[in-house]
Amino acid sequence: MDRSALPAGRAWWRGATGYEIYIRSFLDSDGDGMGDLAGITAKLDVLDRLGVDVLWITPFYPSPGKDQGYDVADYIGIDPAFGTLDDFDQLVQAATDRGMRIFVDIVPNHSSDQHPWFQHAIADEDSPYRDYYLFRPAAANGGPPNNWVSHFGGPAWTLDPAGSGEYYCHLFLSEQPDLNWANPAVMEEFREILTFWCERGVDGFRIDVAHGLTKDPEFRNNPQVREVTPGMHPKDVFASFDHVHDLHRPETTKIFETWRTVVEPYDAVLLGEMDVRNIERFTEYVGGGGLDAGFVLKLASSRWEPATILSDLLTYERAALGGAAWAVSNHDQPRAVSRYGDGQVGARRAAAVTTLMLALDGITFLYQGDELGLPDAVLTGVAMDPVSTRNGGAAGRDCARGPVPWDSTAVNGFTTAPVAWLETAPLPESLTAQGQIGEAGSTWERYRAMLDLRRRLPDLWSEPFEIFDRQATSLVIFRGPLTVIANLDDKAFEFVPEGEFHIEFESHAGAVGGDGGHLRIEPEATIVLSRREPDGHALAGLAEVAHGHR
Ligand code: NOJ
Repeated sequence: MDRSALPAGRAWWRGATGYEIYIRSFLDSDGDGMGDLAGITAKLDVLDRLGVDVLWITPFYPSPGKDQGYDVADYIGIDPAFGTLDDFDQLVQAATDRGMRIFVDIVPNHSSDQHPWFQHAIADEDSPYRDYYLFRPAAANGGPPNNWVSHFGGPAWTLDPAGSGEYYCHLFLSEQPDLNWANPAVMEEFREILTFWCERGVDGFRIDVAHGLTKDPEFRNNPQVREVTPGMHPKDVFASFDHVHDLHRPETTKIFETWRTVVEPYDAVLLGEMDVRNIERFTEYVGGGGLDAGFVLKLASSRWEPATILSDLLTYERAALGGAAWAVSNHDQPRAVSRYGDGQVGARRAAAVTTLMLALDGITFLYQGDELGLPDAVLTGVAMDPVSTRNGGAAGRDCARGPVPWDSTAVNGFTTAPVAWLETAPLPESLTAQGQIGEAGSTWERYRAMLDLRRRLPDLWSEPFEIFDRQATSLVIFRGPLTVIANLDDKAFEFVPEGEFHIEFESHAGAVGGDGGHLRIEPEATIVLSRREPDGHALAGLAEVAHGHR
């Protein structure tokens, strides 16, 4: 990214383009069916060519893998399945050589039950590690201490396997015991962990379950907001409670204020994954709440509801004051292409929303495969996600986690092993990287041009954000000499730019047409116009909306 274009005092990551690497499924370099660090290094040139500034890599720490690595058994190591610390150092060096930065995933809400801290905690009730976790006496009837439920099904409490009669808390699997952030020793441990990775050249942390770290000191019941019925998906059971006592505690932002003092000398970024569904809560974390930015998760799970998508984008753009991380997809939700209608239609819509996200303040992420227009993977082997396997085959997250299709050889070139860790249906040549990179008109080339906008025209994210026209399903914004028109409607949109302009980008081929002074923006497209002359001078003139949707 062109940092010389940054307004004074503006954080480097605002205006950057990120890319989420789900390491297990990116590229396997050693033939064990599992993606790894060397696989990422091998593809850095491709990511650089695509226009990526920052890589967020999902957990690669030693882990029993009960939640695909989000159950960490050693926060400062590398699981042999993913490589070694040397491989990590080589990756950082290779990324730095290309001007790219690395964010690692940090999982502070819970560890693995195989972490030595937890093993000590259950082996000896008097061990100092006992208080690293949340052990509580049973309720009077011998059951769990309160009504908290796990995201992944069942109660958020499991009996101490060592037979003390106490329960320990886990907001996810019983193999993921929650850490006790009221214990200063836990903070001290994480101070060292954060420093370790900063010293190794990491430029930021994606903080898993950032909204969950602190719990009610009295462990009160959460108010129940609706009935829980047998067979309900765990997600719906979880949503049947108002999580006032196990999530979003006000103490949490204090923790991140301390983290900030740890990472500040390294200029490293704190990027939270907060599952907050309202803007007030979101801004508590980013508006002086210790974090630089947070993911706007809503947008990575929404269906094709253009009016809601637009209003969410604008709400967060206004209130987050640059502290937003935008993405249409991640590894926890069905892919945007599939959520938005699948096939060409879904891919067109995903490109339109992503283009608009690049014109918003903050950092915009692609999820691996977005640039290929990938739909959800079709599972051909056994399910791996505990959301499915622990809940009788309930809909899980494997569909978002299929191996990246590099070419049309066996297992789409992801591995030389006969099968990948997650078995999915092969994808056609047209959806592979080999079938798209360098091919005029491919989704990959369109995304390359899309990401290039941020580098080529930094006004897109740095000039004042002015809304020129806002309708339920369309939006016209000015960024200095640039005009961004997002038409998420199912009808064309007419617009009259005044003066000379260039069409800098259209989110799909033929998205913009028209005659005379009228521009016709096709349905479900975002375009970027520039009022710059070739010598760089802005052309004078105002635009006007001609007739809106037609
Ligand atoms: C959010 C992560 O993205 C998800 O994959 C994981 O299962 C949970 N946090 C628990 O760590």
